[in-house]
Amino acid sequence: MSSGYDQLLDATIQHLEALKLRGVRHVAVAPETLLALRQPAPRGAPPAPAPEVRVEQREEARFKSGVPSSKAKGVPSLLATAAKNFGATTASAAPFDPGAKAAAFGALRTRALACVKCPHLVSSRKNVVFGVGNIDAPLMFVGEAPGADEDELGEPFVGKAGQLLTKIIETMGLSRAEVYIANILKCRPDTPDQAAGNRKPTPEEMVTCIPYLQEQIDLIQPKVIVALGGTAVEGLLGKTIGITKLRGNWKSYREIPLMPTYHPAYLLRNQALSEKRNLWEDMLQVMEKLGRPVSEKQRRFFTRA
Ligand code: URA
Repeated sequence: MSSGYDQLLDATIQHLEALKLRGVRHVAVAPETLLALRQPAPRGAPPAPAPEVRVEQREEARFKSGVPSSKAKGVPSLLATAAKNFGATTASAAPFDPGAKAAAFGALRTRALACVKCPHLVSSRKNVVFGVGNIDAPLMFVGEAPGADEDELGEPFVGKAGQLLTKIIETMGLSRAEVYIANILKCRPDTPDQAAGNRKPTPEEMVTCIPYLQEQIDLIQPKVIVALGGTAVEGLLGKTIGITKLRGNWKSYREIPLMPTYHPAYLLRNQALSEKRNLWEDMLQVMEKLGRPVSEKQRRFFTRA
């Protein structure tokens, strides 16, 4: 895997390219950030970085080691921090020319499908699972990583948990084709002898893969993101607080409202009506945020009689 410095540089270039495609011609950059960017790429032990870079490297080390941040409320992810330093944000950027957007999305997909950054996943994967849906979707769902079914078919959320997600989307009055669905990791985390069952992505895999998701979000510019489960929240926001505590409370990813909720696989394991209702209440909040109509019948789902 490439070094943290290379990943940060990669993410910065990708972010600037996305802004350029959107017609942004100027970005506000702090003088210390410019100074940090002028440092030569570190070989071996990294040289003492400028202040902002130091923060990001600390965050990356925390992310890679899986050690929660010392900051009580959690921290933005390494890449979210990098983007923030560049002053322009998704929400404030100019809208895309549709042709340029489709082309940029296609180019991103081609790059992701050819990705070889994690050799152990390259050798175990059958498919890179890039994402599916409408690239102009107002609503984006983000999961953890492909499972065996998704690896087989090259599409996210097509197994049992995926079928439940599809039902949730349809109960909201939407279809899979109207939203966009992606994961933190684009490759299935390998398991010993490719055994059935899933493994949580490592912090290193997540930090390596997340620039693809970040670019997808930059291009799609959804109005709302739903983070499905703790790993999705951790990847997007850098928060390692349990999903039970986080769910139901609006967060923000680069100024896009983000609703953390349960992963559908959790609801397959825990069939309690109260937990179904909890997830459903989160989706009601999402529908309201999107300005979608909510019927009385929808409002009452998963309540007792
Ligand atoms: N679980 C996920 O998080 N993502 C998928 O695509 C499938 C199952």
